[in-house]
Amino acid sequence: MDIMEAISSRRSIRAYKNTPVDDKTLSTVLEAARMAPSWGNSQTWRFVIVKDEGIRDKLIETALRVGNRGFEACRQAPITIVACAETNRAGCRDGQPLTDKEGYWFMFDVALAMQNLVLAAASLGLGTVYVGAFDARKVGEILGLPDGFRVVAVTPLGYPDEQPEVRPRKELSEIIFYDRFGHK
Ligand SMILES: Cc1cc2nc3c(=O)[nH]c(=O)nc-3n(C[C@H](O)[C@H](O)[C@H](O)COP(=O)(O)O)c2cc1C
Repeated sequence: MDIMEAISSRRSIRAYKNTPVDDKTLSTVLEAARMAPSWGNSQTWRFVIVKDEGIRDKLIETALRVGNRGFEACRQAPITIVACAETNRAGCRDGQPLTDKEGYWFMFDVALAMQNLVLAAASLGLGTVYVGAFDARKVGEILGLPDGFRVVAVTPLGYPDEQPEVRPRKELSEIIFYDRFGHK
């Protein structure tokens, strides 16, 4: 599948078959994440692959609202991936953020790696859904994250049991400007 096909066919998947994902397929998906660009090639991302159902269920208890369908879908998928980041490297010098904003580049790095992962998964017929609405500190405690790391996002990984319609997107004319913001 070419990259544009993977981009346009990808959907957030919130229903999964219980078909297992073999190790070779999982490593292809993780390899896509590994090859993502990052600030100064800092590669601040780390991924915890959760297959243990007890740990997975504890993670889901950290949801910020009941009935988060993306998070609940981790109960059906054979794998839950928790994306973490080292916080004091991207956008930092000697462990200090270059400016207030620069301290947050770890979020960008992890997002790039996650999107590589998600698109690689889609190209292999696998489903994912970004889950962000959880207590990152509690998830970090459950997974034993060391100081200097934090949890950024979660996704189930497995074979889709639904085919959602594309969710509407803004038109290019609404989001693209030329030379100055607001100029069409
Ligand atoms: C940063 C981020 C956080 C998200 N958090 C959740 C979440 O907690 N639960 C959920 O079901 N979906 C979550 N989503 C999925 C979005 O709802 C979804 O990507 C969006 O509605 C567009 O649909 P699509 O992915 O099928 O194109 C999240 C997406 C992103 C990018």
